[in-house]
Amino acid sequence: MRSRHNRNLGLAGAVAPLCLLLASSAFVAAPAWADGALKIAEPKPAVAQTPPMGWNSWNHFNCDINEAKIRGAADAMAASGMKAAGYQYVIIDDCWQKNRDADGNIVADAERFPSGIKALADYIHSKGLKFGIYSDAGQQTCGGHPGSRGHEYQDAKTYAKWGVDYLKYDWCYTGTDNAQADYTIMADALRSSGRDIVFSMCEWGTARPWEWASDVGHMWRTTGDISDAWVKNSKSKAWERGVLDILDLQVGLESFAGPGHWNDPDMLEVGNGGMTATEYRAHFSLWAMLAAPLIAGNDLSAMTPETKDILTNPDVIAIDQDALGAEGHRAVKDGDFETWVRPLKNGDRAVILLNRSESAHKMSVDWSTLNMAPGEKAEVRDLWSKAVTKGVKAAYSADVPSHGVVMIRVTPSA
Ligand code: GLA
Repeated sequence: MRSRHNRNLGLAGAVAPLCLLLASSAFVAAPAWADGALKIAEPKPAVAQTPPMGWNSWNHFNCDINEAKIRGAADAMAASGMKAAGYQYVIIDDCWQKNRDADGNIVADAERFPSGIKALADYIHSKGLKFGIYSDAGQQTCGGHPGSRGHEYQDAKTYAKWGVDYLKYDWCYTGTDNAQADYTIMADALRSSGRDIVFSMCEWGTARPWEWASDVGHMWRTTGDISDAWVKNSKSKAWERGVLDILDLQVGLESFAGPGHWNDPDMLEVGNGGMTATEYRAHFSLWAMLAAPLIAGNDLSAMTPETKDILTNPDVIAIDQDALGAEGHRAVKDGDFETWVRPLKNGDRAVILLNRSESAHKMSVDWSTLNMAPGEKAEVRDLWSKAVTKGVKAAYSADVPSHGVVMIRVTPSA
């Protein structure tokens, strides 16, 4: 069974003994992170200027992965319209690793991946897609496979040789390690690998990565794992949270996100069966509002048309990928009724009216919430129904379904 050991104890636990060590030896060089300033040799690759979009094996397949399933996901991404909608990265999560060879090189499980990881990467690249892989800062991954501790530079070189474009780096079995120090080592290793690799930090938010990670990685998890549930329920594991539980933990983090450095509220559950279509539409809309990486987690080769329509909604994806890169924030909270607002590059605003209650509710957003004068006319486009209303003044009202959203794009002076 998968265990979850040794969560990080935070900066204080690691810094105090280090200070003692430094005081006792004038000749010990301070590590890169000791004075709070990161000193990574190479600049951060300028990838992920908008939130990365892709697919990851974990939410649907867990450890039950193999070469055929990952190829199948790549095939489906290319053929289903997902690639055309902007999805790019095909990411293998945990359980692809077997052991290390006599030289310490990481070895993939040959039963699951008989052609090897390089051949799989080549196949994914041949579809015009990018390839992502998973490791862990500890000695083992969360699933008990070899982690990268002590092999960071060696693994980064291997990934570059294989053609890896994206690394998700987990935080199991890290004991009392300092997260900033460990993630900085792998960031440095990736940058010296000679390949531009998106660095996706999966530290679960324990050491508040939003405060220090914008120079280290391209995205960082802000919470524990997502559950395929509107709110945590009896099927959720101890460390999992529902969509609304995760949403609440994003409030106040919006100022830390921007091009090349994103808050990551975890991968999508759209299409995995635990929520209604209305809830999945809300989940997808809210993640776009949050400028979240859009990493699908369903079985792409067996998507219903409804799931595909949610995951490929071009208007909602355009909000997520807006070039300004400003994460949306919760502007109004009135019990179960919330208004979320995101400023967009061209001066438009994205707005979500969220109804967390058990019945439908008429909600409205005032122009004052959008920093617009009451008399200012705007065009309002409903991003799910596609209805367009011109010349709207002062406020916009809509019926919002239970456990659902209305998501609109407001274009002022139109
Ligand atoms: C952790 C991560 C998950 C997934 C699993 C794999 O729980 O947070 O996203 O990668 O490990 O074991």
